[in-house]
Amino acid sequence: MSSKVITYKADNEINTIRYLKVIDKNLIKDIEQLKSDKKILFIYDKQISNKFINEIKITLKLTGNIVYFKEIEGKKNNKNLKNFLNLFNLLIEKEFTKNSIIISCGGGVVGDMCGLLSSLYLRGTIYLHIPTTMTAIVDSCIGGKTGINYKGLINSMGNYFHPKRVYILENLITEIPDREYFAGFAEILKCGLIGNKKIINYLIKDKNLYTRKSNKNLSNLILETLQTKIKFFKNDIREKNLRLSLNFGHTFAHSIEMITEKIIKKDYLRHGEAVGLGMLCEIMLSNNGKKNKLYNLCQKILKKYNLPIKLNIYQKKRIRIHQGIYKGVFLDKKNKNNNPRYISLKKINKPKIKEILDYGLLNDTIFNIIENN
Ligand code: GLY
Repeated sequence: MSSKVITYKADNEINTIRYLKVIDKNLIKDIEQLKSDKKILFIYDKQISNKFINEIKITLKLTGNIVYFKEIEGKKNNKNLKNFLNLFNLLIEKEFTKNSIIISCGGGVVGDMCGLLSSLYLRGTIYLHIPTTMTAIVDSCIGGKTGINYKGLINSMGNYFHPKRVYILENLITEIPDREYFAGFAEILKCGLIGNKKIINYLIKDKNLYTRKSNKNLSNLILETLQTKIKFFKNDIREKNLRLSLNFGHTFAHSIEMITEKIIKKDYLRHGEAVGLGMLCEIMLSNNGKKNKLYNLCQKILKKYNLPIKLNIYQKKRIRIHQGIYKGVFLDKKNKNNNPRYISLKKINKPKIKEILDYGLLNDTIFNIIENN
């Protein structure tokens, strides 16, 4: 892919993704074109380097807008009503209008909160997003999912609202630590398996093509992944049909993430790492509990990008982890008729939503990814 811009239509609006080396005059031009009231709130994750924030400050100053900066902590449990209302109150206090701009800069938590904020304030402001984690770059920065957690329910307050512009910045990617960087490759692999063989071919080539974190191979891989995601959500924003396929691996991944966090430790697994394990479970389940060529391919690619293919658990905790994953699968939001649903994949490009009816098979599938220690 030669172009570094993707334009797509969602909910009758045209949106753009720009892949840039650093933040540059494109941002200034975009802000001019968006015909705002010249007020910007820039909300960013505390983890972002001062160097980058200073660059942004200089660029935003050149727009001639009044810019407010707000630092937040992009931790999972910060995605709550209290923090959300703090941001909301700031918009009221600074007299923002519906023609003001909100720019968010961070990972999934920051994106979800700021997307919701932008959609609710006066029924919608102008929203721009700079994703900074690999999972946000290849997945959550587009598709419009927003939300905060309330009363223990994940994303119980949420809706769909698309950023007008997304900026993927190479200089930010180079700052991502290796473990987080490769965790994002599970979502890339997911897109390849459900809908784009080209991505699989990219991934089985030399891993060193992507270790430098800033080259043409990486931008091609990321843009191809985003194009694939767009194909799945653009005509099914509210996830009734085709978009459900983007949940491949996630019925198990959410459960694995939740239980390892509870029984082993907080952030034991990165989201992408759990998605990798979840994809193995869902391929095995699709194939009546047998490992097939697709399973081996998925396992090979996960290994290659330093992603786990087993959960390494001490004997003592093994049964509790197994039971926890099993129970968690039944809590998945896609459940129908009390049966859990998952994305079945027998062949590349052929995802299908299915119910889990054979609980014995479910049991064996979970055992398969738990390794004795
Ligand atoms: N992360 C999957 C989706 O946006 O639908």
